[in-house]
Amino acid sequence: MKYLPCEDEEVHKLIQEEQARQEQTLSLIAAENIAPLSILEAAGSVFINKTVEGYSGARYHAGSRCADALEELTVRRAKQVFGAQYANVQPHSGTSANLAVYLAALKPGDTVLAMSLSEGGHLSHGHPLNFSGQVYRFYHYGVDRHTEVIDYDQVEMLALRHRPRLIVAGSSAYPRLIDWQHLRSIADRVSAHLMVDMAHISGLVAAGVIPSPVPHSDFVTSSLYKTLQGPRGGFILARQEFGPALDRAVFPGCQGTPILPLLAAKAVCFKRATTPQFVQMQYQVVRNAQALAHALGEHGLRLVTGGTDNHLVLVDLRNIGIKGNEAEAALESVGIVANRNLVPYDPEKPTITSGLRLGTPTVTNRGMGEGEMRAIADLIAETLTNMGDDAVISSVRDRVRALCSQFPMPGWATLPGAAWANLKP
Ligand SMILES: Cc1ncc(COP(=O)(O)O)c(C=O)c1O
Repeated sequence: MKYLPCEDEEVHKLIQEEQARQEQTLSLIAAENIAPLSILEAAGSVFINKTVEGYSGARYHAGSRCADALEELTVRRAKQVFGAQYANVQPHSGTSANLAVYLAALKPGDTVLAMSLSEGGHLSHGHPLNFSGQVYRFYHYGVDRHTEVIDYDQVEMLALRHRPRLIVAGSSAYPRLIDWQHLRSIADRVSAHLMVDMAHISGLVAAGVIPSPVPHSDFVTSSLYKTLQGPRGGFILARQEFGPALDRAVFPGCQGTPILPLLAAKAVCFKRATTPQFVQMQYQVVRNAQALAHALGEHGLRLVTGGTDNHLVLVDLRNIGIKGNEAEAALESVGIVANRNLVPYDPEKPTITSGLRLGTPTVTNRGMGEGEMRAIADLIAETLTNMGDDAVISSVRDRVRALCSQFPMPGWATLPGAAWANLKP
């Protein structure tokens, strides 16, 4: 960085420290990834200076020629990647994309059926503290107590009982495939629309590693920064007939100007998602998650649903007598960054939890494979079973650092002021 250190040393220092933290720790946060430098460049481009409102060809400000071309390109690429009839790439986040679909498809007070937050859903799927739970009447389905997979009979029973206008699927902590076709048939039985929030899995869907919800859904929403490996922000896909209502719902319904540099970064992200390298990476993300799950299981850790079909693993810590928040803190102390998570039928509060969610996008992006996943599982198990033993913790910390230096962040050696050498994480 050239200008920031002269103008604002405090912010520059924080960026450098964050750079060092990312380099020197293993992120197993399932909702994180490493955006390529091309995406960082697009996100930091001069498009930040341009204000537009509305859509290409119908703007409220002059000077929009490049912005129009950019938005058209981004929309075209989004539709192409996912085989969708309609795309809106303006939502500022995954949550804003969900808000826009609700605004387009529902009236305040309408009934919606979604997956419960405590069993893998998301706040914007009707949590009482979120706008969604305050404006609409949400009912929630969950997973079967024994198999821990979605209880489709319960979904159908609740749909028949409550007659929702919208059924919402997709989750933040569900390690298995979701049967889109089954949900479509339930939605059809009660004349509901089906919305899939594929925020977590959109990279896997783009690469064709797991089945796409697009052909079965009326609306599909997503963020871009998880498996899709893009910038912050969201997008909406839909059948063409919903396009006008969705356009109005995003602008002027719930947003003003789109963040054009992030639109540029979204365009780059969609282009990359069609490359063979991206597809290979997504397959490896899943292979790595399965290797991690298998190795954790061999250490006696209980996996929710017994394993994974996607990029994440949910560990139930109750059989080793540790709470999720304790595990999160112990792992962070050795440089493994993960998050506590509720497990199905969790007796603990969301701030404590009985579980740990682990995801493989970031470590896969650093070039790690199944062998490294087994090593990471060893490090996790050693940490969780030796909490309070300073010698073991210190040895694990050293091995985490060694693994990080063996697999540097992709392309970061070229970043000005690479932080690895002298900054503390
Ligand atoms: C399923 C799901 N939907 C939406 C979101 C929210 O995305 P954003 O943080 O971009 O609002 C998340 C975030 O983790 C998520 O897991």
